[in-house]
Amino acid sequence: MSYSRHIVIIALGAVAIFLYLNLDWKKPHMNPPQPSRAEVSSRPAQAGPPAETVAEPQWEDPGPYHVAYPRKYKYILDHTETCKTVNPFLILLVPVGPKDIEARGAIREMWGKEAVVRGQLIRTVFVLGVPTGADAQQQQEKLRQESLEHHDLIQSDFHDSYHNLTIKTMMMLEWLNTHCTQVSYVMKVDSDVFLNIDRLLTLLLDTGASGQDYMTGLVWWHSPVLRNPFNKFYMPWNVIAESEFPPYPLGFAYIMSLDLVEKILKVSPQIKPIYIEDAYLGMCLKRLGISPTDPIEKELFLVDPRHPLSSCRISRAIAVVTTSVAQMRSYWQRSREPGEKC
Ligand SMILES: *[C@@H]1O[C@H](CO)[C@@H](O)[C@H](O)[C@H]1NC(C)=O
Repeated sequence: MSYSRHIVIIALGAVAIFLYLNLDWKKPHMNPPQPSRAEVSSRPAQAGPPAETVAEPQWEDPGPYHVAYPRKYKYILDHTETCKTVNPFLILLVPVGPKDIEARGAIREMWGKEAVVRGQLIRTVFVLGVPTGADAQQQQEKLRQESLEHHDLIQSDFHDSYHNLTIKTMMMLEWLNTHCTQVSYVMKVDSDVFLNIDRLLTLLLDTGASGQDYMTGLVWWHSPVLRNPFNKFYMPWNVIAESEFPPYPLGFAYIMSLDLVEKILKVSPQIKPIYIEDAYLGMCLKRLGISPTDPIEKELFLVDPRHPLSSCRISRAIAVVTTSVAQMRSYWQRSREPGEKC
């Protein structure tokens, strides 16, 4: 055999062993000792002395699977009247990156523009962290101007990045908890989602959405913890010992009653935040003993449908993940055309 074939065989062997050690094969001896609270191990990802014997430093490095929360983050931009002088029935919170200017502009013209639907006041705010990189200062200056012009940005001083989404969600909850007491419902909507506001209000007003302990969306009841290290959402055993996450609505669009905001914030210090934000909320819900609620109908929340959707499906949906701003616009326009759609 040639030298290079040896190398290939050794490399394949190494990959096989790596996968064997990490894949989710039910191997009880590989389970770390069960933590006292079943859903999460609070021990750090790195091997080390047991957590009880070491005083955790205040700003411990979160490592690759957790995020730097809680910390003493401050709000840098918060020029919105929402929940200060205006108390909406429903507040739409849209996590965005500093550079998502096009999406913010489109949302402000479309579903974010709706102020009163079926007699209920609705407000949209965008939630973001601080820009990083070479042009961070220019970006921040643009954000400051955008905030003065539109009064709908809430910015907190953590580094805005995909990995830090859980921080964004928790800061959003903290902001709601400090400012909003009169709001009934809170919805988190991603900036690539077409939102059908009329349908949403129908759900909240007519179909017995309970105003307490209520969280709905596309609920993932049995979401596996992915053990393949090449997967984007890989989670090793020593971070999450269970093979499934507790049930949670997928992060692109979920609705909760305002009371849950405070409850989730209250339990979150007991559960070390992982970087998968929707699964983390599921872990908090489980600790609270609260189950998410399935939507009353199928097809209300569409995460990966075959585009383009028919006008009938658009009119029946509440939230649809789109593939472009142009598509979101087209769905928005079609949803506003009068007449029977189905
Ligand atoms: C997440 O935010 C924290 C706090 O700002 C920062 O220290 C960290 O570098 C950020 N992580 C990523 C991956 O951006």
